[in-house]
Amino acid sequence: MTNKEYIAYKNSNLTVEERTNDLLNRMSIKDKLAQLTQVWGLEQMVNIGMPHPEDMAAHGVGSMLYVSNPEDKNKYQRIAMENTSLGIPLLYGTDVVHGYRTAFPLPLAMACSWDPDLLEKVQRVAAKEARADGIHWTFYPNADIARDARWGRVGETMGEDPYLSSKMVAAEVKGFQGDDLSSEEAIAACLKHFVGYGACVGGRDYEQVNLSESELRNIYYVPFAAGIDQGVETVMTAYMDLNNEPLTASQHQLKNVLRDELGFDRLLVTDAGTIGNLITQGNAKDGLDATEKAIKATVNMDMGSYQYLQNLPKLLEQGKIGMEQLDEAVRPILRTKFKLGLFENPYCELGKSEALAKDPVSHSLARKAAQDSIVLLKNEKEILPLKDSTLGKVAVIGRYANSQIDCGAATVVGVPAFVVTPLEGLKERLGEKRVLYAPGPTSERTITNFISQFIADFGLETPESQTWEEQTAAIEEAIRISEQSDIIIAFLGENADMSGEATSRSELSLPGRQQELLEKLKETGKPVILVLIGGRPLAVTWAQDHVDAILMAWQPGREGGRAIADILFGDVNPSAHLAMTFPRSVGQCPLYYATTQTHQPVESQPQPFSRYWNELSSPLYPFGYGLSYSNFVYSNLRLSKKTIAIGENLTVSVDVTNTSARDGREVVQLYLHQRWGSDTRPSRELKGFKKVMIPSGKTDTVTFSIGSQELKYYSTAKQCYVQDAAAFELWVGSDSTADLKAEFEVTEQ
Ligand code: BGC
Repeated sequence: MTNKEYIAYKNSNLTVEERTNDLLNRMSIKDKLAQLTQVWGLEQMVNIGMPHPEDMAAHGVGSMLYVSNPEDKNKYQRIAMENTSLGIPLLYGTDVVHGYRTAFPLPLAMACSWDPDLLEKVQRVAAKEARADGIHWTFYPNADIARDARWGRVGETMGEDPYLSSKMVAAEVKGFQGDDLSSEEAIAACLKHFVGYGACVGGRDYEQVNLSESELRNIYYVPFAAGIDQGVETVMTAYMDLNNEPLTASQHQLKNVLRDELGFDRLLVTDAGTIGNLITQGNAKDGLDATEKAIKATVNMDMGSYQYLQNLPKLLEQGKIGMEQLDEAVRPILRTKFKLGLFENPYCELGKSEALAKDPVSHSLARKAAQDSIVLLKNEKEILPLKDSTLGKVAVIGRYANSQIDCGAATVVGVPAFVVTPLEGLKERLGEKRVLYAPGPTSERTITNFISQFIADFGLETPESQTWEEQTAAIEEAIRISEQSDIIIAFLGENADMSGEATSRSELSLPGRQQELLEKLKETGKPVILVLIGGRPLAVTWAQDHVDAILMAWQPGREGGRAIADILFGDVNPSAHLAMTFPRSVGQCPLYYATTQTHQPVESQPQPFSRYWNELSSPLYPFGYGLSYSNFVYSNLRLSKKTIAIGENLTVSVDVTNTSARDGREVVQLYLHQRWGSDTRPSRELKGFKKVMIPSGKTDTVTFSIGSQELKYYSTAKQCYVQDAAAFELWVGSDSTADLKAEFEVTEQ
């Protein structure tokens, strides 16, 4: 028998609450303050004046971000476990967005799969691989709504629609966290960025946001509420000012809405450096003021601004915050650590993540994820699928055809993931000899910033810049290759550093001289198939009018090259539908489908009423749009009741027939419009979808339920949530312009 003191918080048989209370009772003020801080874990940041991660571990800080090397993680963790008085483990966080070692398609691409179950499986693999490398916490999913394609971060989101985003975000939370955070297959998820970040003025990242109560409640809070209901462990505040108030200081948004109304009582972290930013933003007088604002707004953890560490002692001394408030700030952090099982398993096993990344099951999942998220936008005269046997030589044009980084290898800071490029995928399918390749001219950001550096740091093939003459020569070479071929597959779009954080764009055309290249390819007279690579919708209006087929492949991830070949050659029938509207031109932005009808509806009879004299109001491709090699016919739309009282439900059924010779999957979408009521409602809103496989020649009957859940909304007129007695129109079809329509009425109870 040793007479070691019994330490309750170390006893894993006790509940999280019992352990948290015990630990909290033993902590000094210094211990508590340190737990509220997340520090940068990159050693090189010492060069720019940041404290060394080893010193911070010894100080007992709560968390570190961006420690990419697992050996370093174990080293700092050992210091935290063994060289601090209470041995509280470090919580390691990083952005695991679309895969860790196995690169999956970009989030916006995954949203186009309209398949929450698939996305859940994808994030499960990411969680498993990340956890094996000692990552406990991902700063993801992004629950922002993206309605402006100029915004750099649209690709991180689930697109423009609150209903679709909610389903997908909830699936991501489930995938990352599973049922048990202590499992070696789970990591804590983080909904970000609370709230409204996607609505930055002009699509300019970081710019202020102005949103009405109605927009916040009917659109922007909705995916957050879904993630919270799914049990998300953490939430992140947004950088920007919302209605002139920075989110990190907003007691209204964080305390009243996020905590009290949406019921989030777990770990709330800031975005990087935002407490310090409150001074720059012109909101806080100094660090002390910024710290007071953030802690009073219920922020638990300071991501990398070091303001909590510096200023909280003084605030305590001045009595501006009390011990009880400090304890309430620390408590969720400790709970998260207990739930994650970090006191029992603080270290990671070296090499385990690399081994997991070899799992062929994960690779097949990556291939399926890419197949299911590539959207077929145009298919003139059914040129696709290509017939392998009659096809001669294929010209593969464009540098994205052979670029791992641009096809989605940059999934996580510091860990480049492997990607099978489209060129490799096509060569595998057709054999080396039938594929001729020319990269064409390079395109570059005209203004670089830290994102360009971040991408360059991956060390993957980013080409040297070219002079005008070199670009001209590259175009000529592409044409020469094309002329020797029977068909051209052009991979055009945007480099990896052209979308993402701090990466908004004032145009949505093909960057650099790609448009010129495309027009010259067309002039060869050969069939041209355009495969778009990139992280945002592009206004490829000329291409829609001139090329034979268009695929939006996004950044398709590890198996993207093979998945593109699977679709081009018809081994897989495309089934993805857009989660974000594609505009005809940048001037239409922000462009999204769920706008109100106005006094002068665009859809006016006998002629549509365009908002522009030089451009149609309609998009290039609407939300929900996506072609298939099958043909689906919708009929027999019927409602179980024509009238329901408030609180009652009705059932909608529709027959969907696959009239083609190919089995195919269809995303059956249901849209509603409330014709009058307390407020004016959007002319269409997605309120249901189902992805179904329909064999050739067969009919599937798809049903939806409509009730208060779908019909209630936040009313500006009434200043509360309402369900009106009113008439409704309803459409079911394969995109947001579906025309198969029914009507029903809701009466008072
Ligand atoms: C981004 C967050 C991200 C954080 C940490 C910030 O700049 O806005 O989305 O999670 O950095 O990488």
